Amino acid sequence: MQVLITGSAGFIGFHLTKALCRQGIQVYGIDSLNHYYDVKLKHARLKECGIEVARYGEECASSLYSGYRFRQADLCDKEMLESIFAENHFDCIINLAAQAGVRYSLTHPETYVESNVAGFLNILELCREYHCDRLIYASSSSVYGNSREVPFKESARVDQPASIYAATKKSNELMAYTYSWLYHLQTIGLRFFTVYGPWGRPDMAPILFAQSISQDTPIKVFNNGKLSRDFTYIDDIVEGIARIVNKPGLVREDTPGVPAVIYNIGHGSPVKLMEFIRLLEKNIGKEAVKEFTEMQAGDVYQTWADTTKLRKDYGYTPATSLEDGIREFIEWFKTFKL
Ligand SMILES: NC(=O)c1ccc[n+]([C@@H]2O[C@H](COP(=O)([O-])OP(=O)(O)OC[C@H]3O[C@@H](n4cnc5c(N)ncnc54)[C@H](O)[C@@H]3O)[C@@H](O)[C@H]2O)c1
Repeated sequence: MQVLITGSAGFIGFHLTKALCRQGIQVYGIDSLNHYYDVKLKHARLKECGIEVARYGEECASSLYSGYRFRQADLCDKEMLESIFAENHFDCIINLAAQAGVRYSLTHPETYVESNVAGFLNILELCREYHCDRLIYASSSSVYGNSREVPFKESARVDQPASIYAATKKSNELMAYTYSWLYHLQTIGLRFFTVYGPWGRPDMAPILFAQSISQDTPIKVFNNGKLSRDFTYIDDIVEGIARIVNKPGLVREDTPGVPAVIYNIGHGSPVKLMEFIRLLEKNIGKEAVKEFTEMQAGDVYQTWADTTKLRKDYGYTPATSLEDGIREFIEWFKTFKL
């Protein structure tokens, strides 16, 4: 089996690439290596997979995984993508590349429309043109906005996004549905819930907080700590995606006759922000300097995944407790240097 993973130098893409390569699956990775956060971290993740990038567009073979090839390429570069699709056959496309982050979308909304909407359209078009069987793509828990109906179920109404980031993710779900309807492309949208773990994203709370606690600088506790998140350990996310990749025969339809489906993929147990901070403090061995502030624009109060659907179809059961996950994350954090 050969899969294309977009965003393979990103946090989730990197872990997924390693896991699939270890299972003997051929992986073709692409990533624009943009500068949204320190690009050295993306290069370090690639190096960990045996990839050294020389220049944009050049294909590199991994020195560690014989089945892994990588090319620095942008989703918006249709010509480059077209040549990748023309030269390879993919049994499955996994689209993780996107402009991530809720807060940045308040100041850079156009970047989100470029990568997440126009870039995603390129992927859909190429899937159609090259007759790909399956597209798995990243959506987000943020599509639930400030819904008070918890836990969040896939069947809930999700048309009140609280940020442009969330709006682009909801757009992906709609666009994927259209291609499933028009061209019978099998599309599987995954709503990820706050993913954390080693090699994580430096713009997200776990790393920002861990850095501040270690350096005795204040952490900003939004909404005076009255927030909760369904924190999900990276290995559980990867395990969930790998289960889907490895079960190509299952075609689910949220609407009869249209091979499009959406799944939540989260831990399934919300954690209060203060509890999350307490566990970080315990593992780092220091108390945080806390600066309690108002709610941030674009943020939501709580997230909580109902994962019944993914469990039923793919036997997904997140196995990592928050205590174990944070311990692993902090162990990595203490030793990792860029
Ligand atoms: N990490 C989370 O908690 C979380 C939660 C919900 C949804 N998601 C979604 O999951 C996916 C992966 O997230 P992540 O945490 O690994 O983020 P990430 O930013 O670490 O990875 C995304 C990668 O995509 C690349 N990229 C961005 N725009 C691109 C473009 N136009 N062309 C090619 N590559 C491009 C970036 O360089 C980056 O390496 C994203 O779609 C994100 O929106 C993540």
